[in-house]
Amino acid sequence: MKVGVLGSGEVGRRLAGGFVSRGHEVVIGTRTPKKPDLVQWAAGLKGKVQVGSFTDAARDGELVVLAIQGEAAVAAVELAGTPHFSGKVLIDVTNPLDFSKGMPPSLLFGTTDSLGERVQRAAPSAKVVKAFNTVGNGQMVDPHVKGQKHLELLIAGNDAAAKQRVTEIVKSFGWSGTLDVGGIEGARWLEAMVPLWVRAGSALNTFSHVWVVGRD
Ligand SMILES: NC(=O)c1ccc[n+]([C@@H]2O[C@H](COP(=O)([O-])OP(=O)(O)OC[C@H]3O[C@@H](n4cnc5c(N)ncnc54)[C@H](OP(=O)(O)O)[C@@H]3O)[C@@H](O)[C@H]2O)c1
Repeated sequence: MKVGVLGSGEVGRRLAGGFVSRGHEVVIGTRTPKKPDLVQWAAGLKGKVQVGSFTDAARDGELVVLAIQGEAAVAAVELAGTPHFSGKVLIDVTNPLDFSKGMPPSLLFGTTDSLGERVQRAAPSAKVVKAFNTVGNGQMVDPHVKGQKHLELLIAGNDAAAKQRVTEIVKSFGWSGTLDVGGIEGARWLEAMVPLWVRAGSALNTFSHVWVVGRD
């Protein structure tokens, strides 16, 4: 499969590397495709990653990942051209984090709206699935938690088949599966977990921690 990844930060690169390691090809989208460190990083992936614009990634990806800074996420979808997302699974990894008062962050908006819903409204014919936003980039692919074999990734979205497709990808990345919290409005609560994740990380003095839902 050819995957379009909008975003060339830590998350975009981590997920792009995950797709390549599982045999897929990636077009990674950025505003500055000639960034030397990005070009060098892509060269290390043996021709499996092309660097292009947001439009290239959205147009050429059979499935698309959105890994853009929260405040710019909707604008990046619009800049890419919303028709390019039509009918495609769009994995939304973004968080509307507000760092204006420093650390730890709060949310730019929440509880009655979410970035997941805003992305779905911006690209109404995309099948948006919120996923990977509750986990640090170092644990997105091949997750590992001491003494814990059963690791589920929290997801939300309106399209059942799209969530099934994302679950297959998540499993191929080494997770046990997904925990589906419902329609895309569930993104309100997946996004709200992230300021809490940062606070928990500060308390634990690590940012490789992973939410685990235990059962009796
Ligand atoms: N870091 C993590 O571990 C983690 C974990 C879960 C979720 N997330 C979420 O994933 C997203 C990406 O995070 P990140 O850590 O990789 O880096 P980031 O710094 O939050 O985002 C980097 C990307 O945002 C793009 N961007 C920034 N400002 C922009 C603007 N004004 N217009 C268009 N694009 C803009 C950059 O484009 P260029 O390529 O052109 O520079 C770059 O591709 C964020 O929403 C974050 O909250 C992060």
